[in-house]
Amino acid sequence: MSFNIAIDGPAGAGKSTIARIAAQRLSFIYVDTGAMYRTIALALLRSGTDVEDETALKAQLEQISVKIGYENGEQQVYLNGENVSSLIRTEEVSDMTSRSSAKAQVRAKLTDLQREVAKKENVLMDGRDIGTVILPDAQLKIYLTASVQARAQRRYRELLEKGEAVTLEETVKDIEARDYRDMHRDVAPLRQAPDAVLVDSSDMTVEEVVERITGLARERMEETGIWK
Ligand code: DC
Repeated sequence: MSFNIAIDGPAGAGKSTIARIAAQRLSFIYVDTGAMYRTIALALLRSGTDVEDETALKAQLEQISVKIGYENGEQQVYLNGENVSSLIRTEEVSDMTSRSSAKAQVRAKLTDLQREVAKKENVLMDGRDIGTVILPDAQLKIYLTASVQARAQRRYRELLEKGEAVTLEETVKDIEARDYRDMHRDVAPLRQAPDAVLVDSSDMTVEEVVERITGLARERMEETGIWK
């Protein structure tokens, strides 16, 4: 049986950085589900699909395949066979992902893919609905969050490094809008599973958060007899 760790939480809480390092230390496979939603969003942008038009969305989704693979331990995403990993981190794609991931059809397209990999492998999977919808039986669930201010500061620094012209104020507004959309959508809204451990990273370093999560994982693995 595989051991599954679900990490959910809002944008900018440091999930992917932390999940990547924690997975490496535990020798688990890291599954970044946000990248899968981003891949679909890229396809929708490329084809100019109106996400509010259910028929057009359905037709477009039927034409695309999303797959994941690993290169040097890094997850890659493939859209109809093309590796699009370097094209999915723009603001345009982030915005489209936030809108399209609210659609039931889009979520249904990725559910099986996410469950299948977790069934076969020890995974640390990050997203928004992993502990609540995708892997309700995960042996460890973490809800990783941080204050809006802390998340906006981190995001702002990242964007400046990328050379994008934004203000801190815009970044705060953007984070608040994205939180609202992720938490209030009808399908699979972002929320903490009742049995998830809450980790607030506002005043923690990356190393501290990684230590906390790997520590919890080792405890649970010992309890279940997977880790000796
Ligand atoms: O984690 P991220 O920033 O790459 O996520 C991008 C968007 O995808 C974000 O708006 C939330 C959405 N998402 C989702 O709805 N469900 C997931 N399991 C992962 C991401």
